Amino acid sequence: MKKILMPFVMVIVLALIPYLAVHYAGLTYLFGVIVPYTAAAVLVLGVLWRLFNWMRRPVPFCIPTTCGQEKSFAWIKHNPIENPTNSWQAGIRVLTEVLFFRSLFRNTKAEWHKDANLAYGSHKWLWLGGLVFHWSLLIIVLRHARFFFVMVPGFVDILDYADGFFDIILPTFYVTDALALAAVTFLFVRRLRDAKMRILSLPTDYFPLFLIGAIVVVGVLMRYVVRLNIMPVKDQMLRLVNFSFDAPGEIGTLFYVHIFLVSVLAIYFPFSKLMHAGAIFLSPTRNLANNSRIKRHINPWNKDIKFKTYSEYEDDYRDKMKKANLPLEKQ
Ligand code: HEM
Repeated sequence: MKKILMPFVMVIVLALIPYLAVHYAGLTYLFGVIVPYTAAAVLVLGVLWRLFNWMRRPVPFCIPTTCGQEKSFAWIKHNPIENPTNSWQAGIRVLTEVLFFRSLFRNTKAEWHKDANLAYGSHKWLWLGGLVFHWSLLIIVLRHARFFFVMVPGFVDILDYADGFFDIILPTFYVTDALALAAVTFLFVRRLRDAKMRILSLPTDYFPLFLIGAIVVVGVLMRYVVRLNIMPVKDQMLRLVNFSFDAPGEIGTLFYVHIFLVSVLAIYFPFSKLMHAGAIFLSPTRNLANNSRIKRHINPWNKDIKFKTYSEYEDDYRDKMKKANLPLEKQ
């Protein structure tokens, strides 16, 4: 229970800090300028550092994980995505993994049945929940581009239109808001419901879920409940992206909670499991081509050992071998 409660309380405290500081002490400059700039710098430098650190690690072996037919005879059907033989195919495999969570689709669940049989079954819920979670967050973040450009980019209008398709309330209801909330709830409940998952889950699994959940909840409150004036927000974001350090105008306190939680997420990102977003591209089990039967891979760390052939060995020890009556290839 402690490992769930602790991250939950942390997120509540994190949300209260900007609320109290802006509402009671008027620290808008700190939370509207200094914290977002610091967070953006930590995010960019932190992610670059993690990526370079991974990139400079040697990958001496050909270790892609495969689960399809390898390329061999012309009459045996090759599966180029599950078992790529060149970098293009491996690239497509990584992309399908990133865009559609391809390997998670094969997720299975093992259960002991009453008759003491272990049964495996298909389990697509995690795949679906994960996909909905990531895609809805991506669309929400892309829609936010309207705050960062003077002229709203065309793709934002398209996303806005598609996302607001169910034009049932004012302001327009976004489907992704509901989907993101549902997906966060599902991913949290999934960890709670299953005894194995409860044991395996750590505070660092719950914290990002609560943090992202809180960002979405505050965003939803700003849009549908408290009704924030968007123009000063846009002014402030345009100032920030133009590297201006001017003080923000009159913006509702809830916005500072939203932007502070986003800043915490940005600072947390490079040092946490959230870096799986970058790691997937650099994972040798996924991005290498399985060409070990086409090309000989030699471990570059192998020492330059001088090998002795058997005939050289016999040449060296022939006399001794003869004395010991050992069979010789050459007399
Ligand atoms: C991880 C990043 C972020 C997430 C997940 C997120 C999430 C959300 C969500 C779910 C909403 C509800 C309405 C909607 O879907 O548009 C929202 C609204 C809002 N967000 Fe964010 N947000 C993020 C970053 C930011 C940033 C960097 C800003 C700075 C401008 C921002 C400013 C706002 C504002 C002003 C609203 C109210 C929009 C309205 O009333 O139409 N958000 N956010």
